[in-house]
Amino acid sequence: MTISEAIIRNAAALLNQGKLVAFPTETVYGLGADARNADAVAKIYTAKGRPSNNPLIVHIHSVEQIETYADLSMSWNPIVVKEWISKLAPLWPGPLSVVLPRGMAIAQNVSAGGSSVALRIPNHPLALELLKAFNGPIAAPSANPSNYVSPTTAQHVRDGLGERVDSVLDGGPCAVGLESTVVSLLQETPKVLRPGAITIEMLEAILGSRVEGPSSQKAVEGLTLHSPGLLAKHYSPRTKVVLRSSLSDSSQLPPRIGVLLFSSWKPQFPTVKTVALSSCGDLEEVAARLFGALRELDDAGLDLIVSDECEPIGLGEAIMDRLTRASHK
Ligand code: TXA
Ligand code: MG
Repeated sequence: MTISEAIIRNAAALLNQGKLVAFPTETVYGLGADARNADAVAKIYTAKGRPSNNPLIVHIHSVEQIETYADLSMSWNPIVVKEWISKLAPLWPGPLSVVLPRGMAIAQNVSAGGSSVALRIPNHPLALELLKAFNGPIAAPSANPSNYVSPTTAQHVRDGLGERVDSVLDGGPCAVGLESTVVSLLQETPKVLRPGAITIEMLEAILGSRVEGPSSQKAVEGLTLHSPGLLAKHYSPRTKVVLRSSLSDSSQLPPRIGVLLFSSWKPQFPTVKTVALSSCGDLEEVAARLFGALRELDDAGLDLIVSDECEPIGLGEAIMDRLTRASHK
């Protein structure tokens, strides 16, 4: 047995004992528990301080497992939904979660009071090895305290959750860097609840049908939310963040300003720290480094973080979605 096999086996054993294991995915690190074990799932909510009305994504290792952990017979149209799943199959493993009726095997608290489950196959060798060794569904939200910036390195997980997690698998920095696209297949028109690296345009092309965007959703306080990850304020650093377009000439600026830069923009005010995400405005590079940069600026003792912006098109939509939430007052 190699060292990595031993580590994976140990992590799978911890999950079997109802413990929490953080693991890398291509998007962000996840805080995993056995999705069939309600007590283990409850530990996730406690460790993150996550509101009990915010459902969790369940990770699996193969497309075949979708029918094991979702109950497609409860779909609005099982034949169409099966067709959609086979069309989406080439995108997995990858940064796409699909919301379907929850199967019997999945603990109820994964769905946070609802009857659906979000499923995805992560594209990271360690995550896939863990899923195969465990041979069951792993519920895993991002491995950060609720509302803080998602972790893209093992150190981010340790910084945020410390002793609250039983083990952290270190797979290096996450390649995508933004959480998966969440698409609901619960109704006649597929609906993106959270934008990500798999864009609406890509989904429309592969499904050959119209896909609704996230903007039409309104979160209602106190009810089970369609996707509470879409609450206006989310993913926020402690330091105040503003988008550069919302600064005016007359804005009163504090002394210690940091800038998150990803275009040729040149701020016309004094700054004490600048983090440049990509020298050529490459959005994939911006996405991969975004959360690490927000954490770096947040740790720099600044009064204000001013963020650059890009067109909200393609991957730019997910980037601007996260930055808009981070800057929500
Ligand atoms: O990339 C990702 O998706 C990462 C990695 C670890 O896989 N996970 C992640 O989980 O971002 P979390 O919990 O931070 O975000 C899950 C999002 C939330 O916006 C949640 O509301 C939504 O997915 N979600 C989960 N289950 C859902 C369901 N049954 N119906 C609607 N939305 C759901
Ligand atoms: Mg999260």
